[in-house]
Amino acid sequence: MTTLPFFPPDLFEQDRQALLDIVHEHGTGPSQKFILGERTAALEEALKASTGAKHMIACGSATGALELCVRALGIGPGDEVVVPAFCCQPVASAVINIGATPVFADVDPWTMVMDPEQVPSLITERTRALMPAHIFSIMADMPGFVELGKRYGIPVIEDSAVAEGAVLDGVPAGRWGDLGVFSFFQVKAFGTAGEGGMVLTDDDELAEVVRMLRNHGQDGRTRFTHHRIGQNSRFDEILASFQLHRLPSFPDRLERRARIADYYTERFAPLADRGVLAPPAGRDGRCYYVYSLLVKRREDLRAYLSERQIGTHVYYPVPLPLQPAFSPWAAEGRSWPNAEQVSARNLGIPIWPHLTDGDVEFIADSVCEFFE
Ligand SMILES: Cc1ncc(COP(=O)(O)O)c(C=O)c1O
Repeated sequence: MTTLPFFPPDLFEQDRQALLDIVHEHGTGPSQKFILGERTAALEEALKASTGAKHMIACGSATGALELCVRALGIGPGDEVVVPAFCCQPVASAVINIGATPVFADVDPWTMVMDPEQVPSLITERTRALMPAHIFSIMADMPGFVELGKRYGIPVIEDSAVAEGAVLDGVPAGRWGDLGVFSFFQVKAFGTAGEGGMVLTDDDELAEVVRMLRNHGQDGRTRFTHHRIGQNSRFDEILASFQLHRLPSFPDRLERRARIADYYTERFAPLADRGVLAPPAGRDGRCYYVYSLLVKRREDLRAYLSERQIGTHVYYPVPLPLQPAFSPWAAEGRSWPNAEQVSARNLGIPIWPHLTDGDVEFIADSVCEFFE
């Protein structure tokens, strides 16, 4: 029987030789510059061109990128940042690590992204940023968050870690916020053979500060002059070359992911009355990092698919404010019923681009058969 793991072990097989050549080229090249060199600058330029962003600053990860964003905005102790209650943990740790307070907002029960309608009641005089995040295959309601940011005079940090290449109302993910971030962690749509991330912004001053902060507060001109207390969140030249190599084929991989998602969504639509919710159909505001169903009988479906050698994944089984590390920041008396519900129901099924049509059909058939 076919084995279809959730995380494919042959993610970079097509580019393996290129990766080896790149390692050799950098390892034996004359410059011996492995961090923040010409290739990193070239990748920043290439992504500026593909997104239209004025500034692109490569850094160590999207987690690092989020930390750079909150620091660049001058956020610190006593300040609050509104973040989703159901998300990857860096939205909260990036805020706490600089001594500020995350304020958790509930999410939409279907799309799982932070719901702008939940936000106004959470805004106080200490709120310094809103941090919506795109999740799985859906972009957050960025027009809604941008409007809120304007209304309250608060900047928006758009966590697009999972959404590189997605477009909402003609605007690429990462470009809606005052600052945006991408992740190159290996399983992301534009993942790499290691860690990496980007900060995007159109704001010259913020860009300059982020650039300094990523490299110990130096300005890139005078070494060992530290203008700010920064951090080490720099980017690797080998990975920059690898990303430049993979960039031209990225749209094809995204399109393949999108087609798989379209097919799944069509196949699963009739299951809605049997306790399965597929993501909303359509292409606008969609990213295809993970395809997650919301399933009442999640564990039974998981076991059934596992018997058929189909790997699944539960992202975030516990909402952030209920996590041991973050519960001290969970405001007393507040609850996040939608975050709790989607934590109990979400189930990711494979969506990697080199799945064959036969694989995709088999996965969809298997899900449908479970509910027959
Ligand atoms: C929404 C979101 N933000 C941030 C991150 C962090 O990305 P990285 O692994 O590059 O630090 C992730 C990782 O999955 C994520 O899903």
